[in-house]
Amino acid sequence: MKIINFGSINIDHVYSVEHFVKPGETLRSKGYQVFSGGKGANQSFALARAGATVLHAGKIGEDGSWLKEGLSKSGVDTRLIETVRESTGHALIQVNAQGENAIIIHAGANESFTDSDIENVLEHAEAKDWLLLQNEINAIDSILYSCRTRGLQVVFNPAPMSEEVKSYPLEYVDIFIINEVEGEALTGEDDPEKIVLKMQALYPKSKTVLTLGKAGLIYKDHERTVSMKALEVAVVDTTGAGDTFVGYFLAGLMQEKSLEVSLQTGITASAICVGRHGAADSIPTRKEVEEFRL
Ligand code: RIB
Repeated sequence: MKIINFGSINIDHVYSVEHFVKPGETLRSKGYQVFSGGKGANQSFALARAGATVLHAGKIGEDGSWLKEGLSKSGVDTRLIETVRESTGHALIQVNAQGENAIIIHAGANESFTDSDIENVLEHAEAKDWLLLQNEINAIDSILYSCRTRGLQVVFNPAPMSEEVKSYPLEYVDIFIINEVEGEALTGEDDPEKIVLKMQALYPKSKTVLTLGKAGLIYKDHERTVSMKALEVAVVDTTGAGDTFVGYFLAGLMQEKSLEVSLQTGITASAICVGRHGAADSIPTRKEVEEFRL
């Protein structure tokens, strides 16, 4: 069983700043580094490091070959990452003294998926495979329509949230992984308990994981609700923490670990991630997750 991840691949330009730049301000950065990133790629790294079989479908420009090599070295199947004429997607990331981030993304090659690409990728899908999507590529709605008859487990992490998401055929999603911002946009509720209840009412066949940062998470399906606390750790850089959770949580489910163990493993992996700089580079290995003690 494998997971096919239709996902973004970005070059992350990361600036360490005392505070996020204000309107009209020119701010001197305290440090600058270039990392491998993109929500899609980060989630593929996390899945592979967690031991899942992951096939990444993505688009890069000529400037992004090192990103594909990095994914491949981490065990991701990269045969469906295509090099196109557009430049690789990139992100400008400010990380402040508290380790919080503010991100601008430019989609570049990430928005060059065509209908024939989608069919080509889905030809690699077999019964019982999973399909993972974030919201950093184009054609999400077409992908959802195309996989509805194939019996795949569809997981959607609608990040970063946009107005179009509400028009997607979300009834084909089996598992939503959302944060409070995405939850509020989808449900109109701002209280976490109400968000998961409304998600259940709107999408009764789906499961929802609502991540709450330092407050942990709530999982809800039609039978049960599970709440879990986050781990209290020193924060260096939160970039990629959500992606790390997604990868480790899904790998746990695919490996038929219990829901609770899968959620807890995701929480532990993201706690390690926030203690390190960068996105893909900060995602721990399975060994590091297993050996982690507070
Ligand atoms: O989730 C973190 C990611 O968001 C970064 O790697 C950046 O590329 C943006 O896509």
